[in-house]
This record gives sequence, C-alpha cells and structure tokens, in this order.
Amino acid sequence: MDLDAMVLTAHVLVTSGKGILAADESTPTIAKRFAGIGVESTEASRRAYRELLFTTPGLGDHLSGVILFDETIRQSADDGTPIAELLLRQGVVPGIKVDGGTKPLAGFPAEVVTAGLDGLRGRLADYATLGARFAKWRAVIRIGSGVPTGACIEANAHVLARYAALAQEAGLVPIVEPEVLMDGDHTLARCAEVTEVTLREVFAQLARQHVVLEATLLKPNMVLPGEGCPDQATDDEIAVATIDTMRRTVPAAVPGLVFLSGGQTDQQATSRLDAMNRRGPQPWELSFSFGRALQGPVLRAWGGDPGHRTTAQDALRHRAALNGAARRGTYEASMEGA
Ligand code: 13P
Repeated sequence: MDLDAMVLTAHVLVTSGKGILAADESTPTIAKRFAGIGVESTEASRRAYRELLFTTPGLGDHLSGVILFDETIRQSADDGTPIAELLLRQGVVPGIKVDGGTKPLAGFPAEVVTAGLDGLRGRLADYATLGARFAKWRAVIRIGSGVPTGACIEANAHVLARYAALAQEAGLVPIVEPEVLMDGDHTLARCAEVTEVTLREVFAQLARQHVVLEATLLKPNMVLPGEGCPDQATDDEIAVATIDTMRRTVPAAVPGLVFLSGGQTDQQATSRLDAMNRRGPQPWELSFSFGRALQGPVLRAWGGDPGHRTTAQDALRHRAALNGAARRGTYEASMEGA
C-alpha cells in the first residue's frame, strides 16, 4: 500500500467546495429509480444514463469523486473511453462500491448484516487495475422496537473494519458507511443515541483492525428524527445534534465526513449540510456523498429521452453547485431557482 497516495486521495475527495456523487446503485436499485420515471432498466439504458452524468460539462467544478457500480467501471463511453478514464479527464476521482448488499442477520430476525468479504481481496486488486482510487461499503442499522441490538452493531462494525483494512492493503481509500436509517417514528434524540453507539463501535473496530484513519473517510447519516416522527426538527437542530454526535465519536485524524442523503429531499440534504458548515470549523471537513439528493432532479429531467440530455446535465450541474455552496456554508434557498 502507498499510504501517502491514499492520504492525498482522501484529502482530494474532501476538497473545499466539492463532494462526491454516489452513482453506485446496484442493478435492482437502479431499476427502481428508472421505474419511477418510466424507463426500462437494461445494460444499454444504464450505460446511457451514467454516460450522461459523467460527460456533464464542468462535472469537476463541484464534484471531487464519483462512486461507481461493478457494471459501470467495466463500461466505456460512446467514443470508447473507459468510464474511469472519462472521470479522470473531468478532474474527478473514480471510486467503487464493493459490498455485496445486506443479508438477514442470523438469530436477529429484524436486522441485517452486509455481505461481501469473501473474495474481496481479489476484487479490490481488480478494481485498482480498472482505475478505482477509493471504495465504499455500506452497513445498515435500523431503529425500531428492540433494535438495533448490540450484536447487530458489532457484526456490522467488524465487517466494515475488515473491509477497510483490505481496501487500504489494495491502495484504495475506504469510505466507511454505517447508515442509521431514517425509517420509523423515532425521535431526533433516539437517532443521536443510536448513531453515537454505532460510531463508537465502528471506530473501536477500525482501530482493532489497524485501519489508518488519515486515509479513511466516514460516510455517516445526518442525525434526524424518523420520517414518521410527529416532532420534526429544524435544520439548526439537526446540525447541532449531528455535529455533537460526530465530535463525541469521530477521531480528528479522519480527514472528512461525507454525509449520505438517505431519503431526505434534495433541498433538505443541501440546507442541512449548509447549516452544519455555518457552525464554523470542525476537526474534519463536512462534505457530501449524495445519491438520491443529487440524481433525483437529473432523473426527472432526463426521463429516458436522449433529447433531454442537456437539461438533465444542467440539473446535475446546478444541484452539485448548490451542494458546493453548502460545503462553504453559503447556500441560500433563493439559489434553488437560479
Ligand atoms: P443516498 O444519498 O441516496 O442515501 O445514497 C448514498 C449512498 O451511496 C448510499 O450507500
């Protein structure tokens, strides 16, 4: 492993004013997104859509990296340029999702653990050859009656740490994503409590597996009330709860936190990231790695029609620019219509 190169990549990914586009939906997930706009998911339609995203003029102005899915990193643009190469030409670092999705956690019927450690060393080496410079693994923690259990948190934190150690062995910066879901009717305080316990276990396991934090990025959920909670919170309350939770649990050696959007609307995700960055400097960069909150407007503008390519690319550039402003704490809702 070249540690200096990984530390540099981690810092490049959290450059001021920029963040990450998560375009790593698995085949079943992208099919769901396409169904929402009436588009059939085929290898050709997935390639066409993702080529549209990655050829957006000025893509690198507000995006530092893109997370790809296995199928995509093996594809090429219409002119034959491999997708990873296309991203590098845009000044954007290519990354890859390497987890195998969630599976039921044996013995704990309401909970899941993320699969994918088997054969991971070989797959990571393959992805590095294909041009990936960072990797992502998502664990899922659900809040509900009697859950999460300590067993679920420990199992997921352990596999996250084993993944992160293997990624660094292969020279890839691991993005460690323990997502506490916003599904349910729990309060903001309950989400804060579960996120705190989860992150404490994740960093204990990362230390145990000798993961180098200077070459690691954390992809956390924002601390939010459940979407069914009658007592919703202001952006400032969310910003305070999220930063307090992170300050208690995330070592300062981690270069940056790249938040997931997790089902928030695109405007909510942007304005809450902005509210956090308005609170002044923190030990780490506060950035984004949004999937739905960046792609929602693009999918709606595209609708599967090649004639809508420019409008769809404009929508991506606009959303990325708004999130770029939120990175600096200079986003205003009035910029939405610009
Ligand atoms: P969302 O921003 O849509 O939550 O997706 C981010 C992601 O990559 C989840 O793994």
